[in-house]
Amino acid sequence: MGNQKIIGALPGEHNLQDYDKACREFSFEMLAREFYGNAGKINIVHRVIDHNIERGRGDRMALYYDADDRQASYTFNELNEQVNRFANVLDKYGLQKGDRLAIFLPRSPELYISFLGAAKKGVIVVPMFEAFMKDAVRERLLSSGAQALVTNAELLSRVPRQELPDLRAVLITQGAGDAQTLDWYSEVAGASPRTEFCWVNREDPLFILYAAGADGRPKGLVHVHDMMLGLWATAAWVHDLKEDDVYWCTADPGWITGIAYGFWAPWLHGVPVLVKGGRFDAEQWCRALEKYRVSVWYSAPTAFRMIIAAGKEVYGRYDLGRLRHILSVGEPLTDDVMQWSLETLGVPIYDTWWMSETGMNMICNLRCLNIKMGSIGRPVPGIQAAVVDDEGNELPPYRIGNLAVRAGWPAMARDVWGNREKYEEYFRLKPWFISGDAAYMDEDGYFYFQGRVDGVINTAGERVGPWEVEEKLREHPAVQDAGVAGKPDKIRGEIIKAYVVLQPGYEWSHALGEELRNFVKTGLAAHAAPREFAVKESIPKTPDGKVDRKVLRGWVLELGK
Ligand code: PRX
Repeated sequence: MGNQKIIGALPGEHNLQDYDKACREFSFEMLAREFYGNAGKINIVHRVIDHNIERGRGDRMALYYDADDRQASYTFNELNEQVNRFANVLDKYGLQKGDRLAIFLPRSPELYISFLGAAKKGVIVVPMFEAFMKDAVRERLLSSGAQALVTNAELLSRVPRQELPDLRAVLITQGAGDAQTLDWYSEVAGASPRTEFCWVNREDPLFILYAAGADGRPKGLVHVHDMMLGLWATAAWVHDLKEDDVYWCTADPGWITGIAYGFWAPWLHGVPVLVKGGRFDAEQWCRALEKYRVSVWYSAPTAFRMIIAAGKEVYGRYDLGRLRHILSVGEPLTDDVMQWSLETLGVPIYDTWWMSETGMNMICNLRCLNIKMGSIGRPVPGIQAAVVDDEGNELPPYRIGNLAVRAGWPAMARDVWGNREKYEEYFRLKPWFISGDAAYMDEDGYFYFQGRVDGVINTAGERVGPWEVEEKLREHPAVQDAGVAGKPDKIRGEIIKAYVVLQPGYEWSHALGEELRNFVKTGLAAHAAPREFAVKESIPKTPDGKVDRKVLRGWVLELGK
């Protein structure tokens, strides 16, 4: 197998043993030669489905779906057939390479089938988290100019169709649509199970993921087919995926983790994934770990803490002995969580640092390195990270600065949809990509995360832009101005705290607080709703009229004492 050659440079099959050697010898271009050979054109779907079928894994399980009211499973062959059918439906409705298909669905097999079907035809997917309400949905559909949408009858009520001139086809997976919608199942059933690939270039878009910035609208990060190189390598080195594993990444595919590692990365290795429907529930999650014999589990500190809080009488009832290791992402992995895992489950948790923008794990506690508690680890081979000052100069060990990565890795977002200028802001200190996180490095090259620099909020691992929440609050008749910041919280990492200036004639009350909270919840998204409020005389502003996030951060920390 071609792959062995590269990996041959890194002793021991495809898992990473000699970190320093790999850093010296490995480059993603080497991997590209192994992966793509002389093929001018590629498609990530070919690699995750056809390649597995060609290797004799067609009858192996690709997807286990588990929800209260529905259990389903698909082998790679079965998935292939569904994906082909859906791809033909897109052909039928005239979607072509470069067009956009938005997917607004709860976790369900149809979501994954639609995603792959679109990618197979070169159609760009716009994933939308199911908790988004009308404003957030409108924003994403308008910005991306999506021509087609897959959703269900319940979520359809949040889609302002009359305001979306580009939207031609709406496919409904569950419940009754209306005369203007199509039924996903009958369309798929009526389509041929065979189809042709749309072969694309490495740099052609695969999906557009909207991610919050500190100020301004969410940015449509454009990810490309070439990301498969980074996902393949990190699935091997960071997640240590092996053919007999069962992998569960608990993130929703409305977020980068649920896309990159929810299905692409494990399927690049032919490894089956578990997708659990429904909301978080400590007991059900433990039951799922046991039932599906999950061997590699990727989740977030908030979820671990909630399971710990549920108590031994919950997690102790299930046999989690199949777990080889756990990985963590999205917020700082605290010592207590790591201790719990080591003592109770008998396995370590490997922290992984990365972002929607990076598309792949970047700085990690790799299995071949010693873990230093409190550190996010070291850059994966092929990635060069540094801590730089505001001019882009590298800082010596222990100095806190901007966490930066040398531009040019395969899973890097290639653009901000429709806003090249915004994209270029990330690279203002060439050759560095500036992450927006603060960090320091120690003398052994381990990195230590020190929070966001820019005011972007991270609540329970979910990324929320303060600007969007402020805009929503300002729409309320009682609010003249608003400033929003993340306040440290033991369980959720951060909660959203809102400072509001009231319109004349309004007085603060508990009821008004509840009303404002609900206003954001129903307009934007439940996870974006402030949990705390304080009334202020004015909101601090920078000279160019933006909310002064540094001052707000000070307020939040002082009040958090
Ligand atoms: O602040 C960092 C935090 O999550 C941010 C990225 O959020 P998002 O684009 O939604 O992607 C989340 C998961 C890839 C980062 O800028 N973050 C990510 N990983 C960690 C983290 N904070 C602490 N520890 C981590 N391991």
